[in-house]
Amino acid sequence: MQDKVTVPDIVARKGGPKIKMVTAYDMPMARIADRAGADIILVGDTLAHVVLGYEDTLPATIDVMIHHISAVARAKPRALIVGDMPWLSYHLSVEETVRNAGRLIREGGADCVKLEGGRKRLPMVEAILSAEIPVMGHLGLTPQSIHTMGGYRVQGRQAEAARNLLEDAEALAAAGVFSIVLEGVPDILAEEITRRIPVPTIGIGAGKYCDGQVLVFHDVLGMHNDRLAKFVRQYAHLADTAVEALQHFFEDVQSGGFPSDAESYHMNEEAARIFRSLLEKEE
Ligand code: KIV
Repeated sequence: MQDKVTVPDIVARKGGPKIKMVTAYDMPMARIADRAGADIILVGDTLAHVVLGYEDTLPATIDVMIHHISAVARAKPRALIVGDMPWLSYHLSVEETVRNAGRLIREGGADCVKLEGGRKRLPMVEAILSAEIPVMGHLGLTPQSIHTMGGYRVQGRQAEAARNLLEDAEALAAAGVFSIVLEGVPDILAEEITRRIPVPTIGIGAGKYCDGQVLVFHDVLGMHNDRLAKFVRQYAHLADTAVEALQHFFEDVQSGGFPSDAESYHMNEEAARIFRSLLEKEE
């Protein structure tokens, strides 16, 4: 068993080997991710959509995040656990932001937190860092801004918007974040950000030049039949496999093929004989 992955370990991966990150939302998923060799497990607010069935990530609350982060933490993964700060948990005041970040660590068992946004969020980022909680940034297509963006749209396609994102990344890095997720941005922009900042970038829909890549557990393993974003590569079709397995189970139930004698508990012969004679006396 290798040592637990730490924040300095991730920072040291700038330039390679590439960082492997995936989301997970409960104990079995965390165990699977860890066995597969994840460096980072992100308990993302995507859980609102892929686990809880909401349209977007906005309904996730700090209590819901703690509920799921603590399930992941109970798997005691080797991977670094990143707890995602949900919408409105870091927007109202610096004090409330630090309290919420602290809850993800103390009650959830996260090793660090992630939040969306650039220079606008610097006071919050700095306050969390000064409470000794490591912060991962998240720039580009930030799903908590779905209404401001007018939908899930690639960000930084135009020169001025790209420059803005570059400056956001530099500001976050200067403030002390230990890595930045770049989501839904052109590869040339992700390449330039990756070249300029001293901490690793982790891409999702950001091309091949980032220092690592992340995908959502349910997308990469085919656990749903929703339309997939262009950047998702599906490595398995677990929903189809699960449906087939359950259909097989139900067929066996209907045909009487399940359970077999080997899958049942039995009395020894003497106990069975006494039991039968008891029933006979009662009749
Ligand atoms: O919430 C999440 O799962 C994320 C990833 C998509 C990066 O933020």
